[in-house]
Amino acid sequence: MKLKKGDIVELHIEKYAFEGKGIAKVSKNELLGINEEDGNEKNYVVFVHGTYPGDVVKSRLIKIKKSYAEAIAVEILSPSSDRTQAKCKYFGLCGGCKQQDLSYPKQLEYKQKQVGEIFNKLGGFIDFSTEPILPSDNVFFYRNKMEFSFSDKRWLTKQEISSNDTLSKDFALGLHIPKIYDKVLDIDECLLQSDLSNQILNFTRKFFLEKNISVYSTKTHTGFLRNLVIRQSFYNNYLMVNLVTSDEDEILLKEFANNLIEKFPAVTTVVNNISKKLSSVAVGDYEKVIYGSGFIYDKIGDYNFRISANSFFQTNTKQAEKLYQTAVDFAQFNGNEIVYDLYSGAGTIAIFISQKVRKVFAFESVQSAVEDAKVNAQLNNISNVDFIIADLYKSFLPLVEKNNLPKPDVIIVDPPRSGMHKNTVDNVIALAPDKIVYVSCNPTTQVRDIKLMVDAGYKLMKIRPVDMFPHTYHIENVSLLKKLEHGSN
Ligand SMILES: C[S@@+](CC[C@H](N)C(=O)[O-])C[C@H]1O[C@@H](n2cnc3c(N)ncnc32)[C@H](O)[C@@H]1O
Repeated sequence: MKLKKGDIVELHIEKYAFEGKGIAKVSKNELLGINEEDGNEKNYVVFVHGTYPGDVVKSRLIKIKKSYAEAIAVEILSPSSDRTQAKCKYFGLCGGCKQQDLSYPKQLEYKQKQVGEIFNKLGGFIDFSTEPILPSDNVFFYRNKMEFSFSDKRWLTKQEISSNDTLSKDFALGLHIPKIYDKVLDIDECLLQSDLSNQILNFTRKFFLEKNISVYSTKTHTGFLRNLVIRQSFYNNYLMVNLVTSDEDEILLKEFANNLIEKFPAVTTVVNNISKKLSSVAVGDYEKVIYGSGFIYDKIGDYNFRISANSFFQTNTKQAEKLYQTAVDFAQFNGNEIVYDLYSGAGTIAIFISQKVRKVFAFESVQSAVEDAKVNAQLNNISNVDFIIADLYKSFLPLVEKNNLPKPDVIIVDPPRSGMHKNTVDNVIALAPDKIVYVSCNPTTQVRDIKLMVDAGYKLMKIRPVDMFPHTYHIENVSLLKKLEHGSN
């Protein structure tokens, strides 16, 4: 019988592919009940979503192509020994921890392999060394920041639909359902953040539900509540609650803050970001501080950092130290270097390395982050770092020339997931530092940029992944490049 899309097949998973897909290798003829001339070999690849090597699964075919197929596991007949019980009750629904059902050592092993493959296959790099991935000390409660969305379209789970409870379908505060951007899963706990943050999440929902406050609709662009962002210092006692709304309402926000602080004295600041943007990004057009200073303070290594609501700060505080230490180990500073830190955020890398080098020039586009960075330098008595506001997507060489900055010996870059703009890569190459240390949360764009650097006379020396995001597919990776002396290779 010829099989088609939607049919169920039994598959043995042999390999791990990218992002939670297992690979089964089968005979195309046998699998699909067809008779292609070269279809008897067991070389037809089926990517099966939600599976791991060692699983035997019943799965539904969702795509059938000439050289591969895709399927979704519908029943696990025999589980892989790498599987573990997911702890979170929302596992499988929420877009967050997609690998919580895979043992942590295996998560690390697959991330390591995946980075290797990206550099080997996508980048074509063979001659470089790979250091072992650095595991995260905490695999739960490791995030210092969680961003929740309000939605007027609540995603109802099967249990909720079949229960007799009366549920408000037009109010949810939680996390987005993967690929369904307008629907939100109402959650009462997330295991990546502290119990206190979960209590604040639930308090906030109750407060606004009882007051019947409207939720912003991404369809009609009306309604008030947009996001709740909770930032909690890992090492110090600071907690920020940031409510993102579509408009101002000082009286309501004051009442919210007063009630919140009364119930949770650990909350040290409450801010309100007001966003008129049509897109659903939890960053305001402007900010009002409702209570406290508008900042929290956390620590990486020996240094303290002030963080405001819209400044980037590594979300896994403890692991950030290992990440920055890897960058330092790779750079092998001799104490006399001029270093440029590109995409410097709140100045964390620049300050972390400051006592190991002569001078750091740090470049960043977000004004509040640069302001935080300047305060952070003072806070730590650091005087050899200059912070410069710069949109690195445009050319930043004119800024270097205008300010008469000395040429860098080392450039450290840590761009967002989209990687560096070609202009920025060209500028880095034109500045010709001896070493480039590339910190990235997306090895695919990292490899794309590194290829350009290698084409321009740099050699990829080594890489080291650092697991900043347990249970997710996200991979952080540090790479070291060295400028080749003329004529060497
Ligand atoms: C991955 S974060 C790294 C921040 C910092 N190095 C750290 O470890 O906390 C990327 C940073 O790039 C900044 N950024 C994004 N686009 C930029 C641009 N076009 N020009 C300059 N900075 C940019 C972001 O604001 C953010 O602070």
